[in-house]
Amino acid sequence: MKTPIADFVKEYIKKDYARFHMPGHKGKPSLGCESSDITEIPGADELYAPKGIILESENNAARLFTSSRTVYCTGGSSQAINAMLFAAFLRADKCSKPYVLAGRNAHKSFIYALSKLGAEVSFIYPENEGGILSCNVPAKTLEKRLSACREKPLAVYITSPDYLGGTADIKALSAVCAEFNVPLLVDNAHGSYLKFCEEDLHPLTLGADMCCDSAHKTLPVLTGGAYIHAAADDKYGFAGILKRASEIFGSTSPSYLVLESLDLCNDYLENTAAADIKASRERADAVRAVMKSRGISDVSSEPLKISADLSQLGMTSSEMSAFFESRGVEPEYCDGEFAVFMFTGKNESGDFKRLASVFEALPRANAPVKRPPAVMPAQRALSVREAVFSPCEEIKTENALGRICAAPSVSCPPAIPIAVSGEIISENHIELFKYYNIDKICVVCEE
Ligand SMILES: Cc1ncc(COP(=O)(O)O)c(C=O)c1O
Repeated sequence: MKTPIADFVKEYIKKDYARFHMPGHKGKPSLGCESSDITEIPGADELYAPKGIILESENNAARLFTSSRTVYCTGGSSQAINAMLFAAFLRADKCSKPYVLAGRNAHKSFIYALSKLGAEVSFIYPENEGGILSCNVPAKTLEKRLSACREKPLAVYITSPDYLGGTADIKALSAVCAEFNVPLLVDNAHGSYLKFCEEDLHPLTLGADMCCDSAHKTLPVLTGGAYIHAAADDKYGFAGILKRASEIFGSTSPSYLVLESLDLCNDYLENTAAADIKASRERADAVRAVMKSRGISDVSSEPLKISADLSQLGMTSSEMSAFFESRGVEPEYCDGEFAVFMFTGKNESGDFKRLASVFEALPRANAPVKRPPAVMPAQRALSVREAVFSPCEEIKTENALGRICAAPSVSCPPAIPIAVSGEIISENHIELFKYYNIDKICVVCEE
């Protein structure tokens, strides 16, 4: 596959021009990658008005993902989520109080996007599971919720895969959305690679109308590289507005390093990804077999993610992290209940062997299992926008009962808000803060 952006930059470096343009490093090494870090000079095209090499590269990506339009973002899925919601907002029927019907485990960038649009959220809460990481939304539940809506939501918004590797039944959910003529948007930040598994499990293939993928999370792409894809049938007309939508939330100086890596990734996806992913999947299965022999279950349903249920060890999240680090392994996330390991086609066989040996060495333990509290529907005092734009102060979560949440104060990972902006902090929130070791929260100042 052609790699027009990377080729252009290689040629530019060869010409050895005296650089009188940005960036200020002028291509001279400090990190080592500076010569490739250019800006929108003649011939380099323009990310938000592409006509040349960027458009060609994005069209290559669109073919690989079978979309009607794929656009690149250099600000990750955080930028892409803002842009997707903006696009849904523009395309939706007029409605007195625009809102999105969303699974409760949405990332905090979703809440910030709502605040910028002045839109609200109606959450679907997890059934039969505790904690904030997952939210299985059965098609029947979605159907009931949509039937009960007096005004149609802007969109249905589902996070799949979720942080623990739970995947939604996108096919069934998309059929329900189509019945109600509401677009299905999927936060597929963790699942770009799903397109290149033996069975194509990408949400766009399964019926999503638009989705974002953090290419940088599961493909060989530099941090910040992401896609927004509009469905092949594009029945809501998103394709034509994705550029405008992503421009509103992006820098006018997009990183060419990120664009080059997205461009080179197209070649990888066409030629190498499927074989690499298959090999990693088999190696991950071998780790799962070791876990099984040790009585450790994997709650992930994603091929390239293991979420080991280690609750019986009775460790805190920091003890669990320290345990893995001391054995030369860095997980994606530990919370005392689960340790999450993300693989790509770039993990080598030695990585998997090391992880398997760590599971072999795990002490057998039988501590009382501590599960997170269920997330309960919360009372709202302010709109998301009013709360995010209010003067706020940081206080200890133990003193926050009855105050109004201003910002979804949760760090990355997993950056899934326990209290959402505008909600009144309840006992349930405080229990969840305690469980996830969150000791400070930003609340709206009292008059
Ligand atoms: C489910 C989910 N959505 C969105 C994001 C934001 O993605 P990015 O880091 O690419 O901006 C994350 C980040 O971890 C995430 O886990």
